[in-house]
Amino acid sequence: MRLIAIASSTHPYLYSEVIQHPEIRWQLRIYDMGRLDEKVALVTGAGSGFGAGISHAFAAEGAKVLVCDINEEGGMKTVGSSTNMAFHKMDVTKAADWKAAVDATIQKFGKCDILVNNAGTSYRNKPTSDVTEEEFQKTFDVNVKGVFLGCNAWVPQAIQNKEGGVIINIASVGASRPRPGLVWYNASKGAVANATKGLAAEYGAHQIRVNSICPLVTSTGLFSHFTGMEDTPENRQKFIFNVPLGRIGEVEDVSSTAVFLASSDAKFITGVNLDVDGGRCI
Ligand SMILES: NC(=O)c1ccc[n+]([C@@H]2O[C@H](COP(=O)([O-])OP(=O)(O)OC[C@H]3O[C@@H](n4cnc5c(N)ncnc54)[C@H](O)[C@@H]3O)[C@@H](O)[C@H]2O)c1
Repeated sequence: MRLIAIASSTHPYLYSEVIQHPEIRWQLRIYDMGRLDEKVALVTGAGSGFGAGISHAFAAEGAKVLVCDINEEGGMKTVGSSTNMAFHKMDVTKAADWKAAVDATIQKFGKCDILVNNAGTSYRNKPTSDVTEEEFQKTFDVNVKGVFLGCNAWVPQAIQNKEGGVIINIASVGASRPRPGLVWYNASKGAVANATKGLAAEYGAHQIRVNSICPLVTSTGLFSHFTGMEDTPENRQKFIFNVPLGRIGEVEDVSSTAVFLASSDAKFITGVNLDVDGGRCI
């Protein structure tokens, strides 16, 4: 965001060309303001796909980000040479890992304003009677228990700080519009969407906003699990015929929505499960 300000003295500025008016000696300065300046975020599943995109978008808007993932290689790749991001290895299904991740965020960046519960998994698209108990359990452990543990680890420090905060859960269009072949994955996202509203109602008094983003199928690491097909340009085309905006999702669709929901632009928005789907759920 650019903020144009008239300044009269040597007030500090981030970026500008000072345009001096010779007669009145006032100066026109252009400030580069990030929408998440001075915010600190913890993003899970940040070693790939949406989580990597959200981490980059947050950092570009001025936030510090703890990039969390079970996959160290992916997480380190997300961080790259950025000084606004740091990697922390964690498994979202483990309570002790959550405590360590929230502690690490506060230790490294001083606080933790924003929690993005993005890590997720699915079994490969198939008839529901073929889904094994192990596949069901893993799906609910990562997608639902991970969010439960994350909120329990993050909320107390947010309440204690008395500065409010933001939780963004990554659900799915399947939460409201389940399709064949992913029944229990969609049910796990239905639980996340329901919990999003419950958490928003419960913690609103503490100025903690809780929303979820419900993306359409997107070409990330989970594409082949969701569709049961390899991720090729031809196969992506098979999913666009009933999307009003005429394409599948892109990581940037979700990352820009996450920036909006995390920023003060969304300060009166809570308890919303926002479909980011090109109109697919109409
Ligand atoms: N891609 C899509 O089409 C789509 C659509 C709707 C919703 N989603 C949701 O978006 C989220 C991100 O998925 P993605 O599409 O970017 O997939 P992805 O596979 O690219 O990324 C998921 C990340 O989560 C990490 N992860 C998995 N289990 C973990 C655990 N136990 N602890 C910590 N990290 C773990 C993985 O290592 C990976 O880096 C998921 O919640 C997914 O369900 C994806």
